[in-house]
Amino acid sequence: MSTYETITVEKHGAVAVLTINRPDKLNALNSNVHAEGVAALDELRKDDSVRVLVITGSGPKSFIAGADISEFEGMTPVTQRNQFYEKTLFNTIDAFPKPVIAMINGFCLGGGNELALACDIRICSENARFSQPEINLGIMPGGGGTQRLTRLIGEGRAMEMILSGDMIDAATANKFGLVNHVFPAEELVEKTMEFAGKIAEKAPIALQLSKEAVKFASRSNLDEGLRREVDLFAICFSTEDKQEGVSAFLEKRKPVFKGR
Ligand code: COA
Repeated sequence: MSTYETITVEKHGAVAVLTINRPDKLNALNSNVHAEGVAALDELRKDDSVRVLVITGSGPKSFIAGADISEFEGMTPVTQRNQFYEKTLFNTIDAFPKPVIAMINGFCLGGGNELALACDIRICSENARFSQPEINLGIMPGGGGTQRLTRLIGEGRAMEMILSGDMIDAATANKFGLVNHVFPAEELVEKTMEFAGKIAEKAPIALQLSKEAVKFASRSNLDEGLRREVDLFAICFSTEDKQEGVSAFLEKRKPVFKGR
C-alpha cells in the first residue's frame, strides 16, 4: 500500500481501515483527501486480501466536518461542476465492489454525511452528530446529499435536514434509518470491527453481486430490478464458493470461501 498525507490505511486481516487524518481540521475533506482517497480505494479494490473496507475519521471528536470550507474561496461554478463530474471520492466509494462500512465518531456533517451515505452501512457512536449544513453557507449539498439521503431516509426527513441545516443526534439518526447501529463511543471500534470481520468471512463474489443488486433497487423499476437480481443470482451458481457453501452446509462444517 502507498503512504498518503491526509489519510492512513491499515489492514487487520481481511478488513482494511481507511482513516481520514486531519484531526485539527475535524477531518474536513480538502482536494487532497479526495485525490488520495480515490487512489487508495483503487489500490484496495485490486487487493484480493482485502474483503471489507471500514472508513473512519481520526480522533474522537469528528468523523468528517464536511468539505474544507477554506477551499471554497477560489471556487467558481465551473471548477465546482467539473470537480463533481470527475471521479469523486463519493462516487468511487459508491462503486467500490467490496462492502464499505462508515464508522462514525462525532461530527458527520455536509460532505462527511455524503461520504457516509455513499458507504453501504453506517455505524456510529452515541456522540455522533449529523447534518447537511450547506444551507447555512448559502449553498446546497453537491456530493449526493439530496439524492442518497432522500433515497435512504425519505423525502420529508431529507428535506428537514437539508432545508434547516440542523444537526441531529445519534438516536434520531438511528430512528431515521440514517445509521444501522449506535454504540457507546468506547465500544465503537470493537463492535464495528467485529461486524466487519463477520462480513469478511462471507463469499466475496456473492457479497459483490449482492451489493450490485441492492444498489440497483433504487436505480431501476421493479421489473428491471427483479431481472437483474436473477441474473446475478445465476452467476453465483458458477462459483467455487457456491459449491463450498453448499458442501459445508451438508457436511455440517464452516465454509471457507476463496473468492472464486
Ligand atoms: N472546513 C474547514 N475547516 C474546518 C471545517 C470545515 N468544514 N470544520 C472545522 N474546521 C476547522 C476549524 O476552522 C478549526 O480550525 P482552526 O483551529 O485552524 O481555527 C478546527 O477545524 C476546529 O473547529 P472548531 O470550529 O474550532 O470546532 P468547534 O468544536 O468549535 O465546532 C463544528 C465544530 C463542526 C460545529 C464547526 O467546526 C463547524 O461548524 N464546521 C463547519 C461545518 C460545515 O459547515 N460543514 C459543511 C461544509 S459544506
